Amino acid sequence: MHPIHHTDKTLVIDLGDRSYEILVQSDCIHAIHRQEGLPQSSCALVVTNQTVGPLYGAQLVAALKHRYPTVHILELPDGEEHKHWQTLNLIFDALLRNGCDRKTVLFALGGGVVGDMTGFAAACYMRGVPFVQVPTTLLAQVDSSVGGKTGINHPLGKNMIGAFYQPRLVVCDLSTLDTLPERELSAGLAEVIKYGPIADMEFMAWQENAMDALRARDRSVLAHAVRRSCEIKAWVVGQDERESGLRAILNFGHTFGHAIEAGMGYGVWLHGEAVGAGMVMAAELSKRMGLVDEAFVQRLRSLIERAGLPVKAPVLDAADNAGRYLELMRVDKKAESGEIRFVLIDGPGKAVLRAVPDALVREVIDTCC
Ligand code: NAD
Ligand code: GLY
Repeated sequence: MHPIHHTDKTLVIDLGDRSYEILVQSDCIHAIHRQEGLPQSSCALVVTNQTVGPLYGAQLVAALKHRYPTVHILELPDGEEHKHWQTLNLIFDALLRNGCDRKTVLFALGGGVVGDMTGFAAACYMRGVPFVQVPTTLLAQVDSSVGGKTGINHPLGKNMIGAFYQPRLVVCDLSTLDTLPERELSAGLAEVIKYGPIADMEFMAWQENAMDALRARDRSVLAHAVRRSCEIKAWVVGQDERESGLRAILNFGHTFGHAIEAGMGYGVWLHGEAVGAGMVMAAELSKRMGLVDEAFVQRLRSLIERAGLPVKAPVLDAADNAGRYLELMRVDKKAESGEIRFVLIDGPGKAVLRAVPDALVREVIDTCC
């Protein structure tokens, strides 16, 4: 279904002269210098955070020293609440203080927050320097490290400031998932789950069988989840890199989810948790639009619940909850002229982008919160 050139361990995302490899393997950070896809340079900067740096920073720096004469490392504060201008500026400070030139390669070592900010810094610094993703959360390995969406949050909206900017290489080391907190593993499963309803119901059925093994971190089962997710993402991004149409399907559950994240305060609900509850809402909305039946909604809700994710959305405003959701959702990047557009499931395995009457959205919010 999704033709992509790959070997057992490597996938290729096909974007012409900006194509790159996604390596999915265990224990590969320490050998990263052997990767042919690494850009040439005399200098590298590893950007990580205060949690991931102490775990894997030394290993990555040691490996990169075989390839780059100078390797710097920068630890950012950890958390979604730090995904903003001030933290981004710490990357520019480090680059300028160390006299980094326009060939310097940035390495994003961490989850989606580090990856999105490092990618955005790479897009901006001297109008663009190369960067490599080394994702260490399940969410980042199956989604955020692939496809070139980079950016930061604004108090008024999630990921509102950013750029499309592709990495040169993505290295997913499955061993790093061993140290991931359980809540974060579940959050990553939300982005794995989303690929089924939008593109591949066989993958959804596989997950229904594999969910216990995924949560137990069975390495070979996780490897399949990461590879299949990346394959689907690469297939979508290869056709619509800048989201003029198809790519929007990857945002299934995200319109409600982003409202939850912004409305609760960044970092209170994890991105994946918000997407979990958001997918239930989007499925319910699809049902009310006559696109799927109740059995499909129940099936998806059950899978999300088994992943350890919330299926009930939070109340954002006791006085006017639906109004608050709608207000936040109008800031969504998919909105056009103030009209919110939702990714809906148009029969299992296929997604569409549609505007929906506010009254129907209100009903869904009232039902799901
Ligand atoms: P995150 O980056 O905050 O990481 C989650 C937590 O796990 C953090 O505390 C982090 O320090 C810690 N951590 C990371 N790796 C670890 C490891 N191996 N062991 C122990 N702890 C580890 O969150 P996330 O879920 O990875 O990413 C969420 C972010 O990704 C959101 O900002 C979201 O908007 C963004 N995102 C971007 C895209 C995209 O296409 N660019 C797609 C999906 C999500
Ligand atoms: N995570 C949505 C996208 O990459 O388009």
